[in-house]
Amino acid sequence: MGPIGVFDSGVGGLTVAKGIKDLLPDEQVLYFGDTAHLPYGDKSRDSIVGYLINIFKFMHEMNCKLVVIACNSASSVYDLDKSIIPVYNMPVIDVISPVVRKTVDEFRSGTIGVIGTRRTIESAIYKLSISDLNPGLIVKELATPLLAPMIEDGFIHNKIAKAVIDDYLSQLGKVDSLILGCTHYPLIRQEIEAYYDHKTPLIDAPKIIAAEVKKYINTNNLRQKSDPGPDQFYVSDFTKTFEETAKQFFGSEIRLNELKLNE
Ligand code: DGL
Repeated sequence: MGPIGVFDSGVGGLTVAKGIKDLLPDEQVLYFGDTAHLPYGDKSRDSIVGYLINIFKFMHEMNCKLVVIACNSASSVYDLDKSIIPVYNMPVIDVISPVVRKTVDEFRSGTIGVIGTRRTIESAIYKLSISDLNPGLIVKELATPLLAPMIEDGFIHNKIAKAVIDDYLSQLGKVDSLILGCTHYPLIRQEIEAYYDHKTPLIDAPKIIAAEVKKYINTNNLRQKSDPGPDQFYVSDFTKTFEETAKQFFGSEIRLNELKLNE
């Protein structure tokens, strides 16, 4: 049985990969960070379709039994352009649909805020999907394009990060709950919680997606039966920050491979 493929433009998807490992420690994760094309949030839909085609091909060649799109920007494109992206019969879990279902289950009324990249917010995918399931929920969305590059650059617990976060959240205004609509944002969860004085519940992907992966694997009898070997980490452009963040999440013994996928 092959690994669980997980990918993102950079370090953000590591939050999801870690969530999966916490719930399924006996599974092997194959992670791909497309750092050469970061940030995805500012790329056109066509460019992201091209990246997705190459990444799914790679995941298939690596024998992945399931692929997790651990990136909202890529998930929003995938959801709209599925028919032209070959997935070679691999089951695919995106990062948006499970979060939408969970939000609608938990909140019957009120205002849900969503922050994410330009690509995700322009697609309006959260607003449309939530309103579809519960038209009574008000959804306020805001593109926060500086956050992912800032986090990718290691600007997390400092004054500049705080000023940027505070400014964005004040633009969003009052919400009853906030969806972190980018997998990079759990890395600044503390700062976001502090902005709201710990009084506004945050909804983020890692635990929700991990639970979804576990359910899928169990239901479809895809559990790893023998020792799968160590997790594997690939990036399309080696960066020191990626290596450091990956080590923080997965321990210092990880080996990072650089791999250029065909343009
Ligand atoms: N982590 C990604 C997301 O969830 C992408 C950030 C970016 O590359 O712009 O959208």
